[in-house]
Amino acid sequence: MKEQPTPFVLEARQITKHFPNGVVANAGLALQLRPGEFLALLGENGAGKSTLMNILYGLYQPDSGEILLNGQPVQLPNSQAAIAAGIGMVHQHFHLVPGMTVTENVILGAEVKHGLFFLDYKRATHQVMALAQQYGLEIDPAALVADLPVGAQQRVELLKVLYRQAKILILDEPTAVLTPQETKDLFRMLQNLKKQGTAIIFITHKLQEALQSADRIVVLRSGKVVGEVLPSETTEKELATLMVGRDVLLRIEKSSAKPGETVLDVRELQVFDDRQHLAIRQLALEVRAGEILGLAGVEGNGQTELVAALTGLRAIAGGSILLGGKEVAGASPRQISSLGVAHIPEDRQKVGLVLDYPLTDNTVLDLYFQKPFANGISRNKQAIEAHTQRLITDFDVRTPNMKVSARMLSGGNQQKLIIAREFTREIKLLIASQPTRGVDVGAIEFIHQQIIQKRAEGVAILLISAELDEILALADRIAVLFRGKIVATFEAAKVDREELGLLMAGGKNLH
Ligand SMILES: Nc1ncnc2c1ncn2[C@@H]1O[C@H](COP(=O)(O)OP(=O)(O)OP(=O)(O)O)[C@@H](O)[C@H]1O
Ligand SMILES: [Mg+2]
Repeated sequence: MKEQPTPFVLEARQITKHFPNGVVANAGLALQLRPGEFLALLGENGAGKSTLMNILYGLYQPDSGEILLNGQPVQLPNSQAAIAAGIGMVHQHFHLVPGMTVTENVILGAEVKHGLFFLDYKRATHQVMALAQQYGLEIDPAALVADLPVGAQQRVELLKVLYRQAKILILDEPTAVLTPQETKDLFRMLQNLKKQGTAIIFITHKLQEALQSADRIVVLRSGKVVGEVLPSETTEKELATLMVGRDVLLRIEKSSAKPGETVLDVRELQVFDDRQHLAIRQLALEVRAGEILGLAGVEGNGQTELVAALTGLRAIAGGSILLGGKEVAGASPRQISSLGVAHIPEDRQKVGLVLDYPLTDNTVLDLYFQKPFANGISRNKQAIEAHTQRLITDFDVRTPNMKVSARMLSGGNQQKLIIAREFTREIKLLIASQPTRGVDVGAIEFIHQQIIQKRAEGVAILLISAELDEILALADRIAVLFRGKIVATFEAAKVDREELGLLMAGGKNLH
């Protein structure tokens, strides 16, 4: 008897995947993708989303289960096979070659398909430019990837996929690193692709994105599908509950701040960016004990350079940084950290963690040479392990054990580990850059509560976030950063969202 044709472009049946460390990342997962469908895939950190996508992209082999393309079983032994089958993927952590140009990255590995047997660079550049134009992706084909901000790097990843003419597009948390404008542009582009028949699997922790853009929403938990809903038939609250298995406060309560003495006092600060342009110009700001200053602004207006200067990662070109009245400009990151400054970095994989070290090393990165973690020159293994265990428990870091390398953790759990480390020592100042980037709604609630708790303990907090909602929810005062300067400061209670947006976009300073 002839089998019925299936209505699915891509189907995963009973996919199971164990990792050698004992984790069952996918436990009999089934997922179906229809032609031209925009499927949002949600799930808490560590639920198994990236693992499943890596299997569909040929990067991991399932222990058991089956993948079907247009109803036909396929083997995807590697990503070349997936690409040949029309599957494209933009990863949670990008897979670009930083020392190569945009064009080189886009065509890498795809030369033959496009008749570029000898690397005809000029022709390739034209192709890349034409493609970028066609999809409205703003990019300089000759730029080195290492010099590009994250949003642009993601456009390179998208170009790679488009260049290979993917019919099925997998995007793993593409909006986590994008500005609101870039996010809008991305959705517009995806809608275009959808119209041309591309089917899309879209992973996000931003529930509104799923509600607004998806045709269907599938929710994973502990390696299984726990729910499937239509955006029109559900709410943010219901999705949150489905994801984490309990009710989540989407907006936390906080009392008004009781600011004390000035902890951080920045004056006339000047900082260069990598290209020797002034990224921070005559910037002044103050953060007091027990208050949260939210720094609002479109990414790329000096946030990265400001934080790097404050944490000792970048030399300053002028001005002063006073911490508790003491000049710290020019101090090393370790000196600044030992003065009681905690830092949640925006790039957790580059700055926050040493990915190949076990969790036990990552939890004492700034502290391993101090008591109780060291006795003279020898390490106190027991103390380090007890400390790590406490952080894992208190901050709900999902990991099989503390000996695995940080690389083995899911993206959100890497972030939780950094937060656990930075929140568990005596600090005066917390510099939090995008603290909830990539974490699930349950973890956002928890991290927000922890930040409020630190404020109550009298810590001064500088919060840098691309999420205006996050700034509005947490900050006591809001400063707007535009082109390296603070262009306005507001009491958070009195702020007008629209005015804030206008100022962030470089609109007139109304105050
Ligand atoms: N290469 C690996 N080796 C061992 N364990 C892994 C590996 N990759 C993922 N895991 C584990 O598998 C589980 C699922 O991880 P996965 O990355 O698929 O989660 P996720 O749903 O994408 O989470 P997030 O939202 O945080 O990105 C986690 O417990 C993770 O620690
Ligand atoms: Mg993931």
